Amino acid sequence: MRSSYLVFRNGSAQKVFIMDNLDIIRSKVVVCRLCDLSLKRIRAVPGEGPLEAKLFILGEAPGRHEDEAGRPFVGMSGRFMDRYLELAGIDRSAAFVTNAVKCRPPNNRKPEMMEISACSPYLLGQLSAIKPSIVLALGTSACNALGIRYKQLSDVRGRLIQHDFHGHSLNVFVTFHPSFPMRFTKPRAEFLKDLKTVASILGRS
Ligand code: URA
Repeated sequence: MRSSYLVFRNGSAQKVFIMDNLDIIRSKVVVCRLCDLSLKRIRAVPGEGPLEAKLFILGEAPGRHEDEAGRPFVGMSGRFMDRYLELAGIDRSAAFVTNAVKCRPPNNRKPEMMEISACSPYLLGQLSAIKPSIVLALGTSACNALGIRYKQLSDVRGRLIQHDFHGHSLNVFVTFHPSFPMRFTKPRAEFLKDLKTVASILGRS
Protein backbone atom coordinates (compact mmCIF):
# COMPACT_ATOMS: atom_id res chain seq x y z
CA MET A 1 0.00 0.00 0.00
CA ARG A 2 1.31 3.50 -0.85
CA SER A 3 1.72 5.98 1.96
CA SER A 4 1.35 9.72 2.08
CA TYR A 5 1.37 12.54 4.60
CA LEU A 6 -1.85 14.32 5.52
CA VAL A 7 -0.88 17.87 6.45
CA PHE A 8 -3.44 19.69 8.57
CA ARG A 9 -4.11 23.42 8.86
CA ASN A 10 -2.15 23.70 12.11
CA GLY A 11 0.92 22.41 10.27
CA SER A 12 0.92 18.96 11.88
CA ALA A 13 1.41 16.00 9.59
CA GLN A 14 0.22 12.44 9.87
CA LYS A 15 1.53 9.52 7.84
CA VAL A 16 -1.30 7.49 6.39
CA PHE A 17 -1.54 4.54 4.08
CA ILE A 18 -3.48 5.36 0.96
CA MET A 19 -6.21 2.77 0.66
CA ASP A 20 -7.01 3.16 -3.00
CA ASN A 21 -9.25 0.15 -3.25
CA LEU A 22 -12.91 0.91 -2.54
CA ASP A 23 -13.64 -2.51 -1.05
CA ILE A 24 -10.73 -2.26 1.37
CA ILE A 25 -11.82 1.27 2.36
CA ARG A 26 -15.38 0.05 2.97
CA SER A 27 -14.17 -2.84 5.10
CA LYS A 28 -12.05 -0.45 7.23
CA VAL A 29 -14.82 2.16 7.59
CA VAL A 30 -17.45 -0.28 8.86
CA VAL A 31 -15.24 -1.26 11.81
CA CYS A 32 -13.55 2.15 12.27
CA ARG A 33 -12.90 3.42 15.82
CA LEU A 34 -10.76 6.45 14.90
CA CYS A 35 -13.08 8.90 16.66
CA ASP A 36 -15.91 8.94 19.18
CA LEU A 37 -18.60 9.16 16.51
CA SER A 38 -18.10 5.41 16.19
CA LEU A 39 -19.39 4.87 19.74
CA LYS A 40 -22.98 5.88 19.03
CA ARG A 41 -23.47 4.82 15.43
CA ILE A 42 -25.74 2.01 14.32
CA ARG A 43 -23.88 1.67 11.03
CA ALA A 44 -20.99 3.49 9.46
CA VAL A 45 -21.79 4.90 6.02
CA PRO A 46 -18.75 4.47 3.76
CA GLY A 47 -20.41 5.78 0.61
CA GLU A 48 -21.49 4.16 -2.63
CA GLY A 49 -21.11 4.36 -6.36
CA PRO A 50 -19.03 3.02 -9.21
CA LEU A 51 -15.24 3.11 -9.30
CA GLU A 52 -15.49 4.78 -12.74
CA ALA A 53 -17.66 7.64 -11.45
CA LYS A 54 -16.84 11.00 -13.05
CA LEU A 55 -18.78 12.82 -10.36
CA PHE A 56 -17.92 12.54 -6.68
CA ILE A 57 -20.64 13.97 -4.42
CA LEU A 58 -19.40 14.94 -0.97
CA GLY A 59 -21.94 15.69 1.76
CA GLU A 60 -21.56 16.40 5.46
CA ALA A 61 -22.44 13.40 7.62
CA PRO A 62 -24.97 10.59 7.84
CA GLY A 63 -28.27 11.44 9.50
CA ARG A 64 -30.68 9.10 11.26
CA HIS A 65 -31.90 7.29 8.14
CA GLU A 66 -28.40 6.89 6.74
CA ASP A 67 -27.18 5.58 10.12
CA GLU A 68 -29.94 2.97 10.04
CA ALA A 69 -29.45 2.02 6.40
CA GLY A 70 -25.64 2.27 6.13
CA ARG A 71 -26.17 4.24 2.89
CA PRO A 72 -25.62 7.95 2.15
CA PHE A 73 -28.39 10.43 1.41
CA VAL A 74 -31.40 8.15 1.82
CA GLY A 75 -33.37 10.47 4.14
CA MET A 76 -35.31 13.66 3.41
CA SER A 77 -32.38 15.75 2.23
CA GLY A 78 -31.26 12.83 0.08
CA ARG A 79 -34.63 12.63 -1.59
CA PHE A 80 -34.56 16.40 -2.13
CA MET A 81 -31.06 16.15 -3.62
CA ASP A 82 -32.09 13.25 -5.88
CA ARG A 83 -35.01 15.29 -7.23
CA TYR A 84 -32.74 18.23 -8.05
CA LEU A 85 -30.03 16.00 -9.54
CA GLU A 86 -32.69 14.54 -11.82
CA LEU A 87 -33.98 18.01 -12.77
CA ALA A 88 -30.41 18.94 -13.68
CA GLY A 89 -29.98 15.78 -15.74
CA ILE A 90 -27.47 14.13 -13.40
CA ASP A 91 -27.71 10.38 -12.86
CA ARG A 92 -27.04 9.75 -9.16
CA SER A 93 -26.35 6.06 -9.74
CA ALA A 94 -23.38 6.98 -11.96
CA ALA A 95 -21.88 9.17 -9.21
CA PHE A 96 -19.94 8.21 -6.11
CA VAL A 97 -21.73 9.62 -3.06
CA THR A 98 -20.14 9.95 0.36
CA ASN A 99 -19.71 12.30 3.31
CA ALA A 100 -17.03 14.27 5.12
CA VAL A 101 -17.52 11.93 8.09
CA LYS A 102 -18.76 8.38 7.77
CA CYS A 103 -20.62 8.13 11.11
CA ARG A 104 -23.63 10.06 12.38
CA PRO A 105 -22.88 12.91 14.80
CA PRO A 106 -25.21 12.88 17.83
CA ASN A 107 -28.42 14.88 17.33
CA ASN A 108 -27.33 15.62 13.77
CA ARG A 109 -24.90 18.30 14.93
CA LYS A 110 -22.23 19.42 12.49
CA PRO A 111 -19.11 17.25 12.55
CA GLU A 112 -16.17 18.78 14.40
CA MET A 113 -12.87 19.41 12.67
CA MET A 114 -11.21 16.63 14.74
CA GLU A 115 -13.80 14.17 13.48
CA ILE A 116 -13.41 15.35 9.89
CA SER A 117 -9.61 15.00 10.20
CA ALA A 118 -9.90 11.50 11.71
CA CYS A 119 -12.06 10.46 8.74
CA SER A 120 -9.93 12.11 6.06
CA PRO A 121 -7.74 9.07 5.22
CA TYR A 122 -10.94 7.39 3.95
CA LEU A 123 -11.88 10.40 1.84
CA LEU A 124 -8.36 10.61 0.46
CA GLY A 125 -8.47 6.91 -0.38
CA GLN A 126 -11.83 7.22 -2.11
CA LEU A 127 -10.67 10.20 -4.15
CA SER A 128 -7.43 8.51 -5.15
CA ALA A 129 -9.27 5.33 -6.14
CA ILE A 130 -11.96 7.07 -8.19
CA LYS A 131 -10.05 10.04 -9.62
CA PRO A 132 -13.29 11.89 -10.42
CA SER A 133 -13.56 14.65 -13.04
CA ILE A 134 -15.54 16.79 -10.59
CA VAL A 135 -16.02 16.79 -6.84
CA LEU A 136 -19.37 18.34 -5.94
CA ALA A 137 -18.87 19.70 -2.43
CA LEU A 138 -22.18 20.19 -0.62
CA GLY A 139 -21.85 22.92 1.98
CA THR A 140 -19.35 23.94 4.59
CA SER A 141 -18.39 20.56 6.10
CA ALA A 142 -17.56 19.19 2.65
CA CYS A 143 -15.39 22.28 2.02
CA ASN A 144 -13.72 21.82 5.42
CA ALA A 145 -13.01 18.17 4.65
CA LEU A 146 -11.27 19.20 1.43
CA GLY A 147 -9.38 22.05 3.13
CA ILE A 148 -11.06 24.73 0.99
CA ARG A 149 -10.72 28.10 2.68
CA TYR A 150 -13.55 30.63 2.67
CA LYS A 151 -15.08 33.29 4.89
CA GLN A 152 -18.59 32.66 3.67
CA LEU A 153 -19.76 29.81 1.46
CA SER A 154 -20.68 32.41 -1.19
CA ASP A 155 -16.92 33.13 -1.63
CA VAL A 156 -16.47 29.71 -3.24
CA ARG A 157 -19.98 28.62 -4.29
CA GLY A 158 -21.14 28.28 -7.90
CA ARG A 159 -17.86 27.92 -9.80
CA LEU A 160 -15.21 25.35 -10.53
CA ILE A 161 -12.15 25.58 -8.29
CA GLN A 162 -8.83 23.88 -8.90
CA HIS A 163 -7.85 22.57 -5.50
CA ASP A 164 -4.96 20.52 -4.21
CA PHE A 165 -5.99 17.89 -1.68
CA HIS A 166 -2.94 16.18 -0.21
CA GLY A 167 -1.19 16.08 -3.58
CA HIS A 168 -4.31 15.33 -5.64
CA SER A 169 -5.34 18.07 -8.02
CA LEU A 170 -9.15 18.21 -7.87
CA ASN A 171 -11.80 20.12 -9.81
CA VAL A 172 -14.19 21.08 -7.05
CA PHE A 173 -17.58 22.66 -7.54
CA VAL A 174 -19.10 23.98 -4.32
CA THR A 175 -22.81 24.36 -3.81
CA PHE A 176 -25.24 24.43 -0.90
CA HIS A 177 -25.85 21.42 1.25
CA PRO A 178 -29.30 20.20 0.06
CA SER A 179 -30.80 20.67 3.52
CA PHE A 180 -30.56 24.45 3.00
CA PRO A 181 -32.64 24.70 -0.21
CA MET A 182 -34.88 21.97 1.21
CA ARG A 183 -35.76 24.23 4.16
CA PHE A 184 -35.82 27.55 2.32
CA THR A 185 -37.31 28.23 -1.09
CA LYS A 186 -35.09 31.19 -2.01
CA PRO A 187 -31.82 29.27 -2.69
CA ARG A 188 -33.55 26.58 -4.77
CA ALA A 189 -33.07 28.31 -8.12
CA GLU A 190 -29.35 28.81 -7.43
CA PHE A 191 -28.99 25.21 -6.26
CA LEU A 192 -30.55 23.97 -9.50
CA LYS A 193 -28.42 26.36 -11.56
CA ASP A 194 -25.28 25.01 -9.84
CA LEU A 195 -26.27 21.42 -10.55
CA LYS A 196 -27.02 22.26 -14.18
CA THR A 197 -23.57 23.85 -14.47
CA VAL A 198 -22.04 20.67 -13.07
CA ALA A 199 -24.08 18.60 -15.56
CA SER A 200 -22.79 20.68 -18.46
CA ILE A 201 -19.16 20.45 -17.27
CA LEU A 202 -19.59 16.67 -16.95
CA GLY A 203 -21.02 16.54 -20.46
CA ARG A 204 -17.84 18.15 -21.76
CA SER A 205 -15.41 16.00 -19.75
N1 URA B 1 -26.82 14.76 4.87
C1 URA B 1 -25.54 14.50 4.48
O1 URA B 1 -24.72 15.39 4.41
N2 URA B 1 -25.26 13.27 4.13
C2 URA B 1 -26.11 12.27 4.16
O2 URA B 1 -25.74 11.16 3.83
C3 URA B 1 -27.42 12.58 4.56
C4 URA B 1 -27.75 13.82 4.92
